[in-house]
Amino acid sequence: MSRTALITGITGQDGSHLAELLLDLGYHVVGMVRRTSTVNFERIAHIQERLTLVPGDLLDQYSLVRVLQEHRPAEVYNLAAQSFVKTSWDQPVLTGEVTALGVTRLLDAIRIVDPSIRFYQASSSEMFGKVQEVPQREETPFYPRSPYGVAKVYGHWITVNYRESYDLFAASGILFNHEGPRRGLEFVTRKITNGVARIKHGLQDHIVLGNLDARRDWGWAPDYVRAMWLMLQQDAPDDFVIATGETHAVQEFCEIAFGHVGLDWRQHVRQDPAFMRPAEVELLIGDASKAKSKLGWAPTVSFHDLVSGMVDADMAVVKAANTAVTA
Ligand code: NAP
Ligand code: GDD
Repeated sequence: MSRTALITGITGQDGSHLAELLLDLGYHVVGMVRRTSTVNFERIAHIQERLTLVPGDLLDQYSLVRVLQEHRPAEVYNLAAQSFVKTSWDQPVLTGEVTALGVTRLLDAIRIVDPSIRFYQASSSEMFGKVQEVPQREETPFYPRSPYGVAKVYGHWITVNYRESYDLFAASGILFNHEGPRRGLEFVTRKITNGVARIKHGLQDHIVLGNLDARRDWGWAPDYVRAMWLMLQQDAPDDFVIATGETHAVQEFCEIAFGHVGLDWRQHVRQDPAFMRPAEVELLIGDASKAKSKLGWAPTVSFHDLVSGMVDADMAVVKAANTAVTA
């Protein structure tokens, strides 16, 4: 019989890639989805018939207990979160309830239903915030700069605490930014590549961004979900930084993205303080040496290929939508 894995956040970018990976590995994949007025299964539509989708919400303790009791997963990947940093200033309490306390609700459900479950927590490089060390590694002290970052620090430490208190197999992946064509349109990479495609197709003239100097360690999302799975296959639970070890400014992303289709970014990018943050994370660059040596993990896609690949994907999406409208 195949192993069962539960993914929270399966409708998100990472959830969809992880579901594909686990299906390929022969898992029975259960995805927890929350009720929405309009179905939002775009990222998993192509594999939906191979998944078991069950209702649940990180805000609802009993829904988590019920999902675990009914589906008896061997592995649980907690990818659900209010994950957009900017929104965390507008909805700090909701962000805390979902992204921080939601982790405790799920860990406690595991402790009650089946403490042998292996648990993965989606921790974040946002926890490093105002960085105390360059590059950032597992031991670098946290200094979060947003309600989201603060919530992720809580989620990280409650995972460590349940590991130490109850001997749960609870692992935490400190993942740096990872992207791809399934990235939400509000995140800067996809906002840029979608904008480039629309500008190239004559649908708009410019995009409006915030801080162009912020630097991120951007990787390829499918590489990063492989690291999640590897963490749960180890002999003992641990924490791992997952990153490329390179950092690039938002402006560099613009230069490559616009240049890829023969446009000059300076003619099509405007700035507006509305997209600046009350407190910024200026620089992220990770040291994934531990993951490389213990998990055998390494990134496979270069920054240039990541950017150009996202532009190509958005060019195809915009072209298809435009053709459908004009046909
Ligand atoms: P995403 O695309 O925003 O997906 C978030 C998922 O969480 C969605 O499926 C969403 O469901 C679900 N969700 C939100 N609130 C929920 C709730 N109350 N109960 C149950 N599900 C809920 O995020 P992602 O980029 O895939 O990231 C996955 C995880 O990794 C997140 O925890 C994120 O914070 C973390 N992370 C991401 C990165 C990155 O660069 N992508 C880096 C480090 C850490 P709906 O579809 O219904 O909204
Ligand atoms: N979203 C956005 N929109 N960001 C902009 C814009 C804009 O118009 N202009 C500049 N930026 C800058 C932000 O200020 C930030 O410094 C950087 O671009 C990246 O922003 P996002 O793409 O929104 O991602 P993030 O780094 O804040 O958060 C993502 O990565 C984290 C890991 O470090 C999210 O995926 C988080 O969930 C994740 O934990």
